[in-house]
Formats: sequence, C-alpha cells, structure tokens
Amino acid sequence: MDLGEKYTMKTMGQLISYTQDENTFTLQYEKEQLIIKVIREDIINFFIPLRFKEHYSKAVEEDKSVPCKVTAGMKEGEFLLETKSLKVRAGSDLALTVSGSDNRVLMHTHGAGRKSGAVVSEETRKILEAEGHDASKMDTGDYPVQLVLGLDEGDDFYGLGDKSGFLNKKYYEYENWNSDIPQAHNEDYHALYKSVPVLFCKKKQAVYGLFFDNTFHSYLNLGKESTDYFYYGADDGNLDVYFMGGENLKDLVSAYTYLTGRTPLPQRWTLGYQQSRWSYESADEVMDVAEHFRSLDIPCDAIHLDIDYMDGYRVFTWNNEEYGQPGELTAQLKEKGFKTVTIIDPGTKVDDSYFMCREGEKNHYFATDPEGKTYVNEVWPGDANYPDFGRKEVRDWWGSHHKFLVDAGVDGIWNDMNEPASFRGELPADVVFHDEDRKTSHAEMHNVYGHYMSRATFEGLQKLTDKRPFVITRAAYAGTQKYSTVWTGDNQSLWSHLQMMVPQLCNLGMSGFAFAGTDIGGFGADTTPELLTRWIEAACFSPLFRNHSCKGTRRQEPWQFGDEVVSIYRKYVKLRYRFLPYLYDLFYQGEKTGLPVMRPLVLHYEEDRETYNMNGEFLVGENLLVAPVLEQGSDKKMVYLPRGTWYDFWTGEKISGGQYILRDAPIDVCPIYVKAGTILPMYEEMSYVGEKPLTTLKLLCTPGEAHYEHFQDDGETYAYRNGAYNLYAFDRDADGKLKTTMLHENYPKYEKIIMEELVK
Ligand code: NOJ
Repeated sequence: MDLGEKYTMKTMGQLISYTQDENTFTLQYEKEQLIIKVIREDIINFFIPLRFKEHYSKAVEEDKSVPCKVTAGMKEGEFLLETKSLKVRAGSDLALTVSGSDNRVLMHTHGAGRKSGAVVSEETRKILEAEGHDASKMDTGDYPVQLVLGLDEGDDFYGLGDKSGFLNKKYYEYENWNSDIPQAHNEDYHALYKSVPVLFCKKKQAVYGLFFDNTFHSYLNLGKESTDYFYYGADDGNLDVYFMGGENLKDLVSAYTYLTGRTPLPQRWTLGYQQSRWSYESADEVMDVAEHFRSLDIPCDAIHLDIDYMDGYRVFTWNNEEYGQPGELTAQLKEKGFKTVTIIDPGTKVDDSYFMCREGEKNHYFATDPEGKTYVNEVWPGDANYPDFGRKEVRDWWGSHHKFLVDAGVDGIWNDMNEPASFRGELPADVVFHDEDRKTSHAEMHNVYGHYMSRATFEGLQKLTDKRPFVITRAAYAGTQKYSTVWTGDNQSLWSHLQMMVPQLCNLGMSGFAFAGTDIGGFGADTTPELLTRWIEAACFSPLFRNHSCKGTRRQEPWQFGDEVVSIYRKYVKLRYRFLPYLYDLFYQGEKTGLPVMRPLVLHYEEDRETYNMNGEFLVGENLLVAPVLEQGSDKKMVYLPRGTWYDFWTGEKISGGQYILRDAPIDVCPIYVKAGTILPMYEEMSYVGEKPLTTLKLLCTPGEAHYEHFQDDGETYAYRNGAYNLYAFDRDADGKLKTTMLHENYPKYEKIIMEELVK
C-alpha cells in the first residue's frame, strides 16, 4: 500500500479560492481541494479526494442531496457557508468549524494537531511483536488521511456499530477492520466483525454526528491519546465525512439512515424464536430438537442449519447421507410450523468436480493475486476461493444459486465467515478485488466483503421469491442494514458477554442496524442454567431472537437444564410472542424514521446525565423499559427510571421516575416497566407465527392519555408497499375511553380489539 505523500492531507496549506456548482463548493488549497457539498440543510459532506477523484461510496448508494437554500462566500481568508440549520467556516490548513444556527460551535478541528507523531514507537512495536501481538494495525502516528477534532468537556460518543465494551465510547480507541475474533471479546478489543464508522457526539447542550465513509482500514481515538482532541485516521482512500446536525440524537440517527438506508420491514416470523447449534449432525437430530419445542410448549419459528447440512462444506450442496434429500427435512419441519434457515459461507471449495468452483473459475468470478492467478486460502472446506462480490455479475451469479435452497424449501439465509475469514493468515492487501468494474484490492474491499455478499444474497432471494428476504450476516459495513439482519458473532457463555449484549445491540441500533441479536446463551464456552435463563430474559426483546452454540460446548437447548429452566424459558419466549405486534410496529416505523427497536436510554432522555453510561437497561421503542439481571447470583436489580411515571409490568405498581429503585428479581423475573400513557399491542399466545389466524388484538394500557399507531399486513410480502395494509390510530383519553381511527384501510381487519388495563 502506498503511504506516500500523494495520499496525505497533513498540510493543506493556505486556502486560495473557491468555486460553486449548485450546492457543491470546491475550495482550492495550496496542496489539496476540499469539496463541501450540502446534502440537506442538516447534512454536509466534506470531501478531500486524496486517493480517488470519486467518492466510490459503498454505503450511500445514490445522490441524496435535495435542493435547499445555501449562502456562501469568502471573508478575511475564510470560506463561510450557511444553511437554515448549520454554519460552516473553513480556513487555511483545514481549520474547520461547524456551528448550529444559534452559533453554538458543534465540531471544530483541533488546530494544534496531535500531540506526538508516533504513539507506538518502533521499539515498543518490536517488543509487542516479539510477544506475539499483531502490532501492524496499531496506531503508529499520523495517518495519510486524518482529521483531528476538538474534544470539549462533556462530550460523549455513541454509535460505531458492533464494537465491544460499553455504551459510551469516550476515551476508547477502535479500528474499522472486519475481524473474525474467536477469543472472548473483551472491552479492550479494537475491532470485531463489522465496520460502521458512524459516531454520534452528544455535547453538553447539543449533538452532532459524523460518518467517515472510507472502507480502508481506519482508526478512531476518542480521547485516549489526549483529552483535548479526538481523531480519525485511515490508511488510504479519501477523507469523506458526512457531518450531521439535529436537535437531538434521534434526528442524527434519522439523518444517518437517510444517507445509508434503513432496515426494511422483515417478515413477521423472523421476529419469533429461532434455535441453532453448530453440530446438529443429521436430519433426525434436527427433528428431535423441533419436536422438543412443540412437546414442551416452547414457541419456536425457525431452526438454523449450520455447515453440517452441506456436502463437505461445499456451498449450495446438501449432505444427503445425514440430511436426506433436499426438501425432505424442510417439509417435515414445515409440517410442524418451523421455517428453515441455512448457512452459506463465501469460501468456495477448490475442487474441479464441484460446479461452483468450475463456474467461478471459468467466468473469473474469484479474487486473484496481482498476477491474475485465482487466490486460495483455507476455510471449512479446506482450500477455498473467494468470490469477488463487489462486481454485480458475481453477485447475480451467487444470488441465482440460492434457487437450489429456495427450491429445497429454505426460508432464510445465514451468511457467515465473510470478513472474510481465512485460516492461513489474512488475505494480503494486494489480492485483486473489484468495486463494480473498477479493479482494486483487498485493502479497499475487505470491510465491504460481507456487505456485498449480503447484498448478493438479498437480491438473489428477492428475485426467487415474493417474500421479504431474511438474511443474517456476521460481517457488515455502513448500509448493510438495507440487505441483512446481523448477529454479533462468536460471543461466549460468559456473564461479561451477557452484559455486553445491551450496549452492543443499542449501539448497533443507533448505527442503523435495527435488526440485530446475540447468540443467546453464548456461542463459545459452556453455559450454565442461570446464565441461559438470564440471557433469555434479557434477550426477550432483542430484535433477532436466536439461541446458538458452538460444536463441542455444552448443549444449549432449554431442556438440557431441567424443569425450572424450561418453565422460565417458556415464560419469556411466550412473552416475546405476545409482544410481536409491538416489535413489528417498531420495525414498520423504523423503516420510515431509522429509529431502532432496542434503544439506549440516552436516545430519549439526553438531558439526563444518568443515562449517558447506562449499560444495564434499555428501552424497546419509547415507553417500554427493560432492566434485566446481568450478574451471576444476583436476585435484585438496581433500576433507574427516567423522568415521568412508570408502571411495573408484572405487578402494576406505580413508580415515579427520576430515581433508582431496588427491584426484587428472583431467577424468573426480568424487571420491565411501562410508562404512563402507553398503549401496547399484543397477540394471544401462539406456538409459531401462522399457527392461528391473527384475528384478535389486545391493547395493554397504562393510565393516562395515549396515542398509538398500529400497522397490520400479511407479514410476508411487499404487498404493503402497494397499499395492502391497515394503519390504526388508537387514542385513549384520561378516563380510559378508546377511539379507533383507520388512517389507512386495505387489509382484512381484526375481528376483535380488546383493551386491557395493566393496573388492575
Ligand atoms: C462461525 C460462526 O460465527 C458460528 O456462528 C458458526 O457456528 C461457525 N462459524 C460454524 O459455521
């Protein structure tokens, strides 16, 4: 990789002049150009074309700019720009300031630059490497692409996708480099499977967001190096930053998802419970698992088949010996009301007698070395090739092969190992990949490998069925939410990983990934009855609701742990199903607003300091607060209730917010609270989605005036986009009288709508 002067913006020099083309302003500096484009009055793109003239964005798929009023000009050597809500000043040496319309400074470059040029000295690096650490991606000083911004007292940071650690990212450092990490994900890990370089900065009395749209390896130091500044650095590529302004964090999430896309409304069954394990080794074993769910009366919608169902780990094949003929197992499962989700990895076995290998080789669909020879590394099937998913042609080819699985009755696809994982060391930076027709390298395409694989899968399924595709991916980049659900990869059966679930899913939600989940019970290591129980309670409202575990670990289906676990497990899975219409409504709204299902408290209570580091509680939508027990041996939970009046979901007890309370939480209790003036839509119990017609809707209400909008459609297809749905508005007055208005009516309505009071 060339780290030469050409790709560095270290010194921009004097600002000389500017030109304007509609709402795009090109500022000519001595060394480089800074192109400022007003996307909307609250979103501005700052672009320094260091490596490429074009943006080549993989996240922002079309021109999102809309006409808006902008005034601009030069004054005393500075460029000044103003929209209705933002003011920009750009001066020599890239002195940049963005303020709100009230002149309050939001983002400002740190004029003095960084403290030292090399944080990790050569000497330290040698010691680290001698001890077996990979120091190659450590911070070694100024980056060719770098932005150093002032850190003000009271700044806090959120977002960044799936990073480990806590909700508030201030004082930590992170890397954007999709990484398959089998070790326990500790809070000091810099990178996991996804790269979502969006940062939301909550200032004392204002907020702003930054989206660093560059897929090369990049780095964020959020006040670790100095408490005076934070900085972003990338190894290569352009400086391509979107500044987002807004009244509050919700506006920023909405602006970010306006740019990169929103999680589409999923099929209803995908919100049900799903069971998985790596090492269900035969169709009989899978059926045994399915039968247990039905006989124990634990609702379940889907079983996932891990790599064991394939023939020698060859993708798009079936292990006939253990799994019968394609279509047999899925039909048996279907009869009992189960959907089937199969795993698909990118690594395609090198085997001349295998059609995928032959087709890929013949059509040059695989990545190559710089000399043009198909690149080989190792994954589950042994030697494997890597499809070049950045090209549409390759995505179409890959997508079309899903016909085999769709014809076999498969309902969803799980994309794994797509960082991409490689057992013989990381792919070299110069392995040749494409960004559409442009030839480029692994260095640029690594972080979007999973993104493009998910896109191939999503678009393939869209062509093959009339259902909304269900795709789950491990690796992702900003914008992958348009194509796929995500899970947080190989967590472990550790209490610290149950604890991490809350901030990780909250930050993923703020980063656009509304549909996310963890492996319930933990993937690696051995779970315990208590850990599994607390995990199912905490995950009851996590958007993706799947128990998955690793081969060789203790079996993790609920019945492995005796009657008490089964009965508590059943209680929470049933509760989840009762809440399905609420979760589905949140997805429906999220498609329009970008707001996630699972939310950190700070998203709705940003004036309240107590919420800034709230790692142990979360909101589901706006008015439901979940405070799960996340500590081994604990039967109490210290719960913080923000301002307002709340009701205990289990007892109906009224509690004033703005205080901590100590809630008894024996092993079968997950503390849940509902705010005053709330209407929660609920279904009756069911064993799986589709078991019975959904003709009755219950509205669980807390005292106080309330307004709620509920969406109803077929739960499977895109017909709602052509108007085949109902939208109900429920208004309840202070006396509890309910008025129902049909905001849209074009679907068979409920036969019964029943109101129930939470407070009896
Ligand atoms: C790694 C994935 O993260 C895990 O979920 C899966 O079970 C294994 N690969 C085997 O396919």
